[in-house]
Amino acid sequence: MAEPLRLGIAGLGTVGSGVVRIVQRHARMLESRAGRPVTISAVSARNRDKDRGLRLNGYAWEDDPVALALRDDVDVLVELVGGADGPAKAATEAAIAAGKDVVTANKAMLALHGQALALAAEARGCAIRFEAAVAGGIPVIRALGESLAANEIQRVMGVMNGTCNYILTRMQSAGLAYEEVFREASDLGYLEADPTLDVGGIDASHKLAILAAIAFGTQVDFDAVDLEGIERITIDDIRAAADMGFRIKLLGVAQMTGRGLEQRMSPCLVPASSPLGQLENAMNMVVLEGDAVGQIVLRGAGAGEGPTASAVMGDVMDLARGRRGPVFGQPAATLARAQPASSTVPAPYYLRMALLDKPGALARIATVLGEAGISIDRMRQYSHDDPAAPVLIVTHKTRRSALKDAIAAMPATGVLASDPVAIRIEEV
Ligand code: HSE
Repeated sequence: MAEPLRLGIAGLGTVGSGVVRIVQRHARMLESRAGRPVTISAVSARNRDKDRGLRLNGYAWEDDPVALALRDDVDVLVELVGGADGPAKAATEAAIAAGKDVVTANKAMLALHGQALALAAEARGCAIRFEAAVAGGIPVIRALGESLAANEIQRVMGVMNGTCNYILTRMQSAGLAYEEVFREASDLGYLEADPTLDVGGIDASHKLAILAAIAFGTQVDFDAVDLEGIERITIDDIRAAADMGFRIKLLGVAQMTGRGLEQRMSPCLVPASSPLGQLENAMNMVVLEGDAVGQIVLRGAGAGEGPTASAVMGDVMDLARGRRGPVFGQPAATLARAQPASSTVPAPYYLRMALLDKPGALARIATVLGEAGISIDRMRQYSHDDPAAPVLIVTHKTRRSALKDAIAAMPATGVLASDPVAIRIEEV
């Protein structure tokens, strides 16, 4: 019989439990497909006594994930502890130093230490596989690094945090304020222990930085992501955007421009009728654009036991079949350091403001925009009872710097009754 591939699973939370269940439920199928058994030798978690509804008695127990990684009967460390540093990184480094492959779902660790870990792994001839780190069950790492390997990638974008998408779509469908839906998401257990990771856009930015590295052959650079979360999005913006035919999404976009690599994670307007606009609830969507393939849209569950364990096990199966390649699609030593570029690609913008309802008010705002070189595409003023008139403007494409200048000049007109809100409209 062919030698089994023996796993050591560090972390028995939602994803780790899902991995154990798949290995147990599909043992024969995995063996047939991989040509060798896939087995679990040992597991590790913080609390040994917790009832996880799993049969664990056939596996050795290690309190320390580093000890788990170093066991002689473990060929592959499956790192599902999470966290950029601490035990997850220590166990990963230990596994690599011992010449073992690693499968991980840890986007924070890869976004912050991916280049160093890839260099170390490749120097030892080890693989690090991380399909589960980006968009859960969606096979985007494989699509980008393998299926599209012959394309020059032009743009990668997506909704990669299900919690934010849930909050934004629920605000839209139920007409509820951000704070109310945030509480709902918390009650449903959607939020990370530190909710800022979700609503602050950090979790999604980790994922974007990883995709950008593979897409553009650059070193992963999380610090260069131009990052803004969804906390400032109000129900007024959700309604106004809908009225103009848009939806608001926390959208990540990475593209190589003449000035360098632009990585943005921010609330954006997308057409309501587009696939991104129609993405509801906690689902994820990644859009890949290559020079040969054109546009590809991948949609699926970005979190949860089944989808994330599915991605982890896809990586395990690749290793069981002997398929191993460079961590980020090309040898880490050849990955360039990208020059970060900040919002250089012009875009249309949505502007919402309240103006004093007096003769010439709108004309003054239009003049400020005109003086900044910004052309108005569409404009709408709503009927109102109070003295301030709600106004929406959609601009033609402009640079963010020009828009910033215009917004800075608006208070001097003396006609503003509220601070203008500006949101980029992404062409999708
Ligand atoms: N908190 C994440 C999300 C889970 O909401 O998508 C996976 O990173």
